[in-house]
Amino acid sequence: MLKLASIEKAYKTAGGSVPVLKDLSLEIEGAGFCAILGPSGSGKSTLLNIIGLLDRPDSGQVFLDGAPADFASAAEAARLRNRLIGFVFQSFQLLPRLTAWENVALPLLYRNVPRKDRKPQALAMLERVGLGDRAEHHPNQLSGGQMQRVALARALVSNPRLLLADEPTGNLDSVTASEALTLLRTLNRDFGVTIVMVTHDRDLAMTCDRQIEIRDGRIIADTRRQ
Ligand SMILES: Nc1ncnc2c1ncn2[C@@H]1O[C@H](COP(=O)(O)OP(=O)(O)OP(=O)(O)O)[C@@H](O)[C@H]1O
Ligand SMILES: [Mg+2]
Repeated sequence: MLKLASIEKAYKTAGGSVPVLKDLSLEIEGAGFCAILGPSGSGKSTLLNIIGLLDRPDSGQVFLDGAPADFASAAEAARLRNRLIGFVFQSFQLLPRLTAWENVALPLLYRNVPRKDRKPQALAMLERVGLGDRAEHHPNQLSGGQMQRVALARALVSNPRLLLADEPTGNLDSVTASEALTLLRTLNRDFGVTIVMVTHDRDLAMTCDRQIEIRDGRIIADTRRQ
């Protein structure tokens, strides 16, 4: 499903170049639920952004479905992203002026789904995450857990093969977090979506199929649940 080969990434700042990912290679097979663990600043979000073709590595390659991603062409990367990948960000990144269903429908717009089909598909996905009765609410009229579910619905509405979730439960209380996780797990099973989830929570990570641990831009452990 997904392969990274010798990824290097540094950020250039006024103070010089900050190396973040160092010769990182990784293979993730389809339909699994994989957790990425590591301390703050270790490069988890950077890694997820590169997997999701939102950012380009300095060197190394990303293969999606066996094909190397062409970072040279932003349009090509966007096309591949729209076709294969759903994102749930560390901050939900909902558009405040749009209602819940309009936020969920956005990826359908990018995929050129006809207007008349967008609303029913968005509503069905909101229904799926238990928010059918909040479709006309704007983000500022929703609780944190509800915003998180809208973000999840938006990530899943275009039927991605790969869901990348950056601390999807980080801003939620423990009850809401555990509900969100149950939802993710159901989606993983029912839709066969491959999930890669960044989390600080080791207990939560241990419930996933696989735990990849990052420290200072390198993978220091990669374990699978028996
Ligand atoms: N745009 C940027 N410019 C310069 N440095 C950056 C930039 N983005 C991230 N960094 C640095 O890169 C390192 C890795 O950042 P990253 O966001 O990937 O960490 P993370 O593991 O996701 O941390 P957290 O758990 O706090 O979200 C950090 O030290 C950070 O300061
Ligand atoms: Mg992060």
